Amino acid sequence: MFDSKKSSIIKDLDKLSFEYVPEKLVHRESQMASLRMLFRPVIESGRSATAFLIGSVGTGKTATAKRFCLDIRRYAMDAGKPVDHHIINCRRNNSDSSVLLSLIRHYDPGYPDRGFSVSEMMKSVKKHVEKRGQHLIVVLDEVDVLIKKGASDIIYQLSRFNEESINVGSSVSLIMISQEYVLDRLDTASLSTFRRTNAISFDRYKRDELLDIVRARSDEALHPGHVRDDSLELMADIAAEWGDARFVIEMLERSAMIAEEAGASEVDAEHVREAKAMTYSVVTESKLTELDRQQKLTLLAVARSIKGDAYVNTGQAEKAYVLACEEYGDKARKHTQFWTYIRSLSDQGLLETSVRGDPDGGRTTYISLPDMPAKVLKEKMAQLLQDES
Ligand SMILES: Nc1ncnc2c1ncn2[C@@H]1O[C@H](COP(=O)(O)OP(=O)(O)OP(=O)(O)O)[C@@H](O)[C@H]1O
Ligand SMILES: [Mg+2]
Repeated sequence: MFDSKKSSIIKDLDKLSFEYVPEKLVHRESQMASLRMLFRPVIESGRSATAFLIGSVGTGKTATAKRFCLDIRRYAMDAGKPVDHHIINCRRNNSDSSVLLSLIRHYDPGYPDRGFSVSEMMKSVKKHVEKRGQHLIVVLDEVDVLIKKGASDIIYQLSRFNEESINVGSSVSLIMISQEYVLDRLDTASLSTFRRTNAISFDRYKRDELLDIVRARSDEALHPGHVRDDSLELMADIAAEWGDARFVIEMLERSAMIAEEAGASEVDAEHVREAKAMTYSVVTESKLTELDRQQKLTLLAVARSIKGDAYVNTGQAEKAYVLACEEYGDKARKHTQFWTYIRSLSDQGLLETSVRGDPDGGRTTYISLPDMPAKVLKEKMAQLLQDES
C-alpha cells in the first residue's frame, strides 16, 4: 500500500513532530538565560528554584522548558551534582492525585492507580526523591488547568518539600507553564510562597523569527536544496499573523508531504498555499472580521467550548457564550437570539450543526467547526473582539 521508495524531499520526519526538541531554540536565548540564572542556586548550593513561564500558544514555552531541563541535567552530571526532571501535563493530570501519581510513576512505573491517599502518595514521592539524593525539577505544563480547578495544594506541597527534607542533596524545583497569568488565583498560603515567583514571558514570534525557526527545522528535517527559500518566506508570512511556531512547522511538514506526493523535486509556493488551505482558509479569515459583535462572541464561545472535541452541544456553547459576554462587558442576548446567531454562522459556513437523538428520547443540536482549528479560531476571535473594544 505504501511506496517503499526512499523519500526525496523529507529526510527525517521525526524532526517535524511536536515532541521533537531541537538542540537549540532560536530566539529563545533570553528566556533560556533567565532560566539559567534562576536555577544557578540549584547547581551551586543544592537549593531549589521556581519559575513561571507565560506566553500565548506556540511561543515555545514547553519546548524551552524541555530543552532547559535536558541541558541542566547534562551540565549537572558533569559537575557531579545529579539533576533529574519530570514533565507533567496538567490538562491530562488535573488533580492532586493524578499529578502525584505521575510523579511516583516516574520512579516506580508499576505503582497502582488507586488505594493510596494524597498524603501517602506525597510521602512516597519524598521517599523516592530523598533516596536518590538527586535534585528533581518538576515541570507543571498547562498549570492553569490545575489552578482553575482549585487543586493548587499540590503546588504548595511541592514547593515546601525542601523545608522538610532531611537529605541535603535532594530537593525539588518547580517550573510552571501557562498561557495566562494564574498565580493570583492561588489560595493565600500558596500565594505568599509564589508572590515573588519569577515570571519569564514568551512573546509571539515575529515574522523573521518564524522564518529562522522554519529554516532551522527544514535544515534538520529535509534533504538539502529541496525547499525554495521563497517557500520558507511564504510560510513565515502566513504564520506571522499568529506568531505561532507550531503553525509554521505544521506548514513545513504539510507542504513537504504535498510536494513529495506530487513527485516534485522541491517545495514551491504552490505546495505551501495548498498546505495553508488545509490548515485554514483565508476566505474564512475575512468573513470573521465582518461578523457583528454578537456573532463574534458566539463563535468565540463555540471555539472555547469545543476544545479538542469534534462536537459541542448547543447548551454548553450557550453557557460559554454567556461567560464570554460577561468577560467582554456585553449584554448576553436571550436563548432564541443565541439560536439565530448559530443559524446565521452556520449559513455562512463558519460552523456546522447536526441534530441527534438522545438516549432519553430528546433531540440535541451539536455544533462542529468545519475548517479552522478551535485553538486558532479562539485566538482570532478574542483578538478581533479586543481590537473592537
Ligand atoms: N524557538 C524555537 N525554535 C525551534 N522550534 C520551536 C521554537 N519555539 C517553538 N518551537 C516548536 O514549535 C512547536 C510549539 O512549541 P511549544 O510546544 O513549546 O509551544 P507552547 O508555547 O508550549 O504552546 P502551547 O501554549 O500551545 O502549549 C514545538 O514543536 C516546538 O518545538
Ligand atoms: Mg505547551
